[in-house]
Amino acid sequence: TDGMTIAELAKKLHREPAEIVKKLFMMGIMATQNQSLDKETIELLATEYGIETEEKVQIDLTDFDTFFEQEPNEDNLVTRPATVTIMGHVDHGKTTLLDSLRETKVTEGEAGGITQHIGAYQVTENGKVITFLDTPGHAAFTTMRARGADVTDIAIIVVAADDGVMPQTVEAINHAKAAEVPIIVAVNKVDKPGANPDRVMQELTEHGLIPEDWGGDTIFVQISALLNKNLEDLLEMILLVAEVEELKADPKRLAIGTVIEARLDKSQGSIATLLVQEGTLHQGEPIVVGNTFGRVRTMTNDKGRRVQEAKPSTPVEITGLNGTPQAGDRFVVFKDEKTARQVGEARAIDATEAQRSVTNKVTLENLFDSL
Ligand code: GTP
Ligand code: MG
Repeated sequence: TDGMTIAELAKKLHREPAEIVKKLFMMGIMATQNQSLDKETIELLATEYGIETEEKVQIDLTDFDTFFEQEPNEDNLVTRPATVTIMGHVDHGKTTLLDSLRETKVTEGEAGGITQHIGAYQVTENGKVITFLDTPGHAAFTTMRARGADVTDIAIIVVAADDGVMPQTVEAINHAKAAEVPIIVAVNKVDKPGANPDRVMQELTEHGLIPEDWGGDTIFVQISALLNKNLEDLLEMILLVAEVEELKADPKRLAIGTVIEARLDKSQGSIATLLVQEGTLHQGEPIVVGNTFGRVRTMTNDKGRRVQEAKPSTPVEITGLNGTPQAGDRFVVFKDEKTARQVGEARAIDATEAQRSVTNKVTLENLFDSL
């Protein structure tokens, strides 16, 4: 469309030219019937009349929201494992719990498998898989959320029975509530002489977490992470909550997900742990991760084994990127390498420009400073 007079446009829109002149006037544009309109104005008018313009709106591939907000194909949806984050106050036993679960559950039946610390791991209980994020503490949780990554389905709040509810316990509860994820309370260290689980439960009622026995709906499990006590119960409760949540994903679409952690390795280059959220990630696929891109060269699971594919809720370590992304960055797989490269490069430029506009903001002071 190369410009058009109001009279011509009126004909196409089946309107009176005077009506269009009036409409334009309402939009703050003064025009006469024989005046030629530019493309922008025509498009504006077309939208006003609810008509789609000839040119299809270009989908912005660099905006990952497009991929993450895509309507699911209901026919393809299958149940996926829950992704669980463990939070709680300092020294209440988060790391011990993660380690105990990993040691008792991951290596079981994995003869010869050496567990790798890749930032997340999976355990199997009653034939069902649970994914644990291995970076405990709210720092990781909040950083991820601040970057728009909501990967946690269930939050485990660990509270030491000999210490009770502490400031970071409350913080953790607030984070979980803000993220609208279900909470399971693990009252830990019940083996200790000074342990008082009842007091913990009492204190938590003040924060809206009321045990089922007391008429509430929060699940409490009393454990000893150190002595591996009641860990099975905890896993079963996670599975129960996961079932209620009806967590589903489409393994058939192109994969999308989030970076759990990333580092630069001297010999292998950039290594990133990705959590697949939708679709299936395959070795060799073109991928954009944050502001980096490449092809998935190698894929390794949490047991240190090479794998060819990773389904939803599965963490894998990948190599093949042209740079090191950041935890919380999102990734998108593309059909062809050319698109992945274009999108990756465009995102890198956008990021650099955004950075520059932040650091080079000219103020009166720094303007004089530089003189
Ligand atoms: P930060 O990472 O520093 O926030 O601590 P954390 O929550 O990861 O606690 P961590 O697992 O490091 O445990 C702190 C201490 O408590 C360690 O000395 C553990 O051995 C001990 N501990 C953890 N769980 C238990 C338990 O169930 N019973 C007993 N008796 N000690 C435990
Ligand atoms: Mg720790």
